Amino acid sequence: MTETVHVPLGDRAYDVRIGAGLLAEAGAEIAPLLARPVVKILTEDRVAAQHLITLQSALSKAGIESAALTLPAGESTKNWAHLEQSVEWLLAEKTERRDIVVALGGGVIGDLAGFAAAVMRRGVRFVQIPTSLLAQVDSSVGGKTGINSGHGKNLIGAFHQPSLVLADIDILSTLAPRDFLSGYGEVVKYGLLGDAAFFEWLEAYGPALAAGDADLRAKAVKRSVEMKADIVVRDETEQGDRALLNLGHTFCHALEAATGYSDRLLHGEGVAIGCALAFELSSRLSLCSQEDPSRVRAHLKAMGMKCDLSDIPGDLPGPDALLDLMGQDKKVIDGQLRFVLARGIGDAFVTSDVNRDVVRGLLADALA
Ligand code: GLY
Repeated sequence: MTETVHVPLGDRAYDVRIGAGLLAEAGAEIAPLLARPVVKILTEDRVAAQHLITLQSALSKAGIESAALTLPAGESTKNWAHLEQSVEWLLAEKTERRDIVVALGGGVIGDLAGFAAAVMRRGVRFVQIPTSLLAQVDSSVGGKTGINSGHGKNLIGAFHQPSLVLADIDILSTLAPRDFLSGYGEVVKYGLLGDAAFFEWLEAYGPALAAGDADLRAKAVKRSVEMKADIVVRDETEQGDRALLNLGHTFCHALEAATGYSDRLLHGEGVAIGCALAFELSSRLSLCSQEDPSRVRAHLKAMGMKCDLSDIPGDLPGPDALLDLMGQDKKVIDGQLRFVLARGIGDAFVTSDVNRDVVRGLLADALA
């Protein structure tokens, strides 16, 4: 059964459709949006090898012509050169102002294609078909698009909401277990930041969900998307509440920078470790009970996920260097680090009022 989460953003409102077999139905899903029966697809080579034929056949079955540009897989594709290549290709393919660009891929392709759509002809509409768990529960929803700079990740971009998101649960069974569990780090984040009952549900059903139960996967994606949609509708351009979605991310970004954005640490793994550290910090600041960080770590461990700094292979820099890397986070305001902390599981808030010595002490202990 396909479920729909509506994102009510006025004239930029859209549906997120969640269900099994949606890729094969993409033509029928997208057709009502089209001014003419033509779409342009941006994808990457690994995803294209597995899913592009299914998408193009589904489009063709609905009488929709398509052309695809296949970019290299990997984070380094999110750069100026591939943005230029994508926009120039869309123009060479005579993409018109009322046409639709389809992003078929994980977060890298979704962010890049969304940004290409945002700037091409001053903005064309786009559809997200997220193929990773991380993209289904987070990056495909909410309209953050962009590329990386030598100065940091996601520093160049625009808010540009998609016109439709198609989250095909079957695609998740094509992911490597490590990639699936990395995306699960973002799922856990939603329970931790705002829904204790969802976290409890994940404690009960997370292992079965990771083992492949499609109904449980669909429920987890739907609840995550509902929570994201709710926050995005309250604060589309991150003036306030949207920063809650960054639970675990201040630590995560420092750890990703320290590991050179390599496969020593995937983004969702960094988020999971970052959530465990954020709860430990909250407990040290007497904001939440001592049991809460233990419960977070116990769930991550039960899922076979990384949850401690010692789970990251290779050496890490010391606490002061990690604090410096946190200082380069784009959420820093007036030189003040901003953290998402918690009064308990499901009750997170944003604050700049954190003593650096407490953070340094936490990192020193975590590195010991
Ligand atoms: N991934 C965080 C956000 O969309 O705001």
